[in-house]
Amino acid sequence: MAYLALVVSRRQRHTGGMKGTTEEIRNFSIIAHIDHGKSTLADRFLEITGTVEKRKMRAQVLDAMDLEREKGITIKLTPVRMDWAGGRLQDHGVGPSPPVPYILNLIDTPGHVDFSYEVSRSLAAVEGAVLLVDATQGIQAQTLANLDLARQAGLTIIPVVNKIDLPNADQGSVRAELRALLGDGGPPILAVSAKTGEGIPDLLAALVRYVRPPSGEAQAPLRALVFDSQFDPYKGVVVFVRVVDGSVHRNASLVFAASKSEITAVDVGVFRPEASSLDLVSAGNIGYVATGLRDVSLARVGDTLLERLPSRRARPLPGYTVPPPNVYAGMYPRTGETFPALREALGKLRLSDASLRAELEQSPALGQGFRCGFLGLLHVDIVRERLKREHGVEVILTVPSVAFRFVLTSGAERIVRSAAEYPDPSSIREMREPWVTVRVLGRARDLGSIHQLLAERGATSPTTESLAPARLAVVAEAPLREIIGDFHDDLKAATSGYGSFAVEPLEERPVNLAKISILVNHELVEALSVLVPVSRAAAEGRRIAERLKTVIPRHLFAVPVQAALGGKIIARETIQALRKDVTGHLYGGDVTRKRKLLEKQKKGKKHLASVGSVTIPPQAYLAVLKRS
Ligand code: GTP
Repeated sequence: MAYLALVVSRRQRHTGGMKGTTEEIRNFSIIAHIDHGKSTLADRFLEITGTVEKRKMRAQVLDAMDLEREKGITIKLTPVRMDWAGGRLQDHGVGPSPPVPYILNLIDTPGHVDFSYEVSRSLAAVEGAVLLVDATQGIQAQTLANLDLARQAGLTIIPVVNKIDLPNADQGSVRAELRALLGDGGPPILAVSAKTGEGIPDLLAALVRYVRPPSGEAQAPLRALVFDSQFDPYKGVVVFVRVVDGSVHRNASLVFAASKSEITAVDVGVFRPEASSLDLVSAGNIGYVATGLRDVSLARVGDTLLERLPSRRARPLPGYTVPPPNVYAGMYPRTGETFPALREALGKLRLSDASLRAELEQSPALGQGFRCGFLGLLHVDIVRERLKREHGVEVILTVPSVAFRFVLTSGAERIVRSAAEYPDPSSIREMREPWVTVRVLGRARDLGSIHQLLAERGATSPTTESLAPARLAVVAEAPLREIIGDFHDDLKAATSGYGSFAVEPLEERPVNLAKISILVNHELVEALSVLVPVSRAAAEGRRIAERLKTVIPRHLFAVPVQAALGGKIIARETIQALRKDVTGHLYGGDVTRKRKLLEKQKKGKKHLASVGSVTIPPQAYLAVLKRS
């Protein structure tokens, strides 16, 4: 077998004094659509290479955040180093000498479209990518988008069909799709079950064979690309690096090329998968450097770590382009929560999520807070959850919006990212909004539903192309505003889960917007107000009022919810009063039990924000955007 020959030749070179080169290193990443099995495949790799002992194995080892495990999705990229002896060598009795240890560095990446920035960073740190496709689902739109990124980065693509153990697996069709997509001449298409482990050793062998070793120079001055970072209370900012040239030692004197911050490496090491200290991390490898820095802004993702000695200072590596936000929402501290706590928490969160933008904002109703930019609605929700769980800060969120461009009669231009910023209507000359190209992938039988959904969202010029038998792509142009809400959910519903989509920015086009103000219990709630096209204002006002009626809990008094357009009420719903006497059913004498129940009720209320006398749950702000 060809890969055996390769393993043997590597061994000869290894014993021939090549130690310390990058020949034995393979850096790779897995690209796949959400739920196609990336994390499960990573688990099998960890198990088969003995990186994690079988008895310590738990599902999705690399999804370290509670939130990731709970939601069953990967949010952050996670690197791991595995040492693999190329087990097949012994299986085939090729010799008594110790097998060649390969260093396999895997960066596990998220599959959801909102986290594509994480994917692009991990792709810049590796030479190969496993393109993993679920045998029951076929190729999905986001996978195509990520595949394009991988190809642009010049990575070797190893196509793999996963979940072949499932009875409804359709290996033949998925292989045909992959062949049509990738053409001939690349590595063969492999078939695995990440669940049972079938085919995984062959996949490891293919990685060693087809992915090229990194091309760094071990003796050159250090150049290490920072692709992620974390804050550690003891070691300060810990940056995750791909060492491109040279090596980084513990106690080395280093400097960040862009921020110019000078540091001493208080610790260096690799991930196995937990951080494991070493004396040095050399060229071609992926590891971490603890910087001791307390100020998170001094160690930025995309920066290059260099040696401090001027004579050994190399040219910095190209960083990453951070994608511009698609959606904006205001974040304000809750009552009782202080603004400095929110500021600090956002600063720390931004360290591990550079795609999150935040700038100071003052709202007459909500006080001092931040206008934040996100990649999508899932991103908004994840940030809100992470602020709460990792930093104990609960926020009030305003209804997410895209960025509109207003041209005023004075000739001035203004970017409007929330209803609160809507200028005096008499001063507006022109309004423009961002449009995107939407690419929907689905089954041929769902073509009608896909077209209908796109039409409902105001999409224009749809074209259809065939991908493989019974699979097609519909490409259309649509306002981004229509896609950020629940397009994803509606597409899944319309295509029995088989449809997927990806978007690319297009251009700004004219739009005529009106502001719908929302009043709860006769008080204006600026955070719930929205900007919608004039033609749909009346219908949207009714929809939002109805929607809020279902998400705002009942109070001890009736709560009117009104939508107003230009000072005129256009819709009204009433949340009926509730006689909420949780202790009513108890006998009079049981004081402790009564107190307990009241305490419980109080706790239940704690996660609600108050607007005047009415409590509005955080999900209300996202619910406003949902249509169905
Ligand atoms: P994200 O992290 O959210 O991008 O998802 P993922 O691609 O990492 O998917 P994950 O590994 O979490 O797998 C999704 C689901 O598919 C889980 O329920 C897995 O148990 C299941 N799964 C993964 N691989 C296989 C397989 O080979 N066979 C079967 N039967 N199930 C699998």
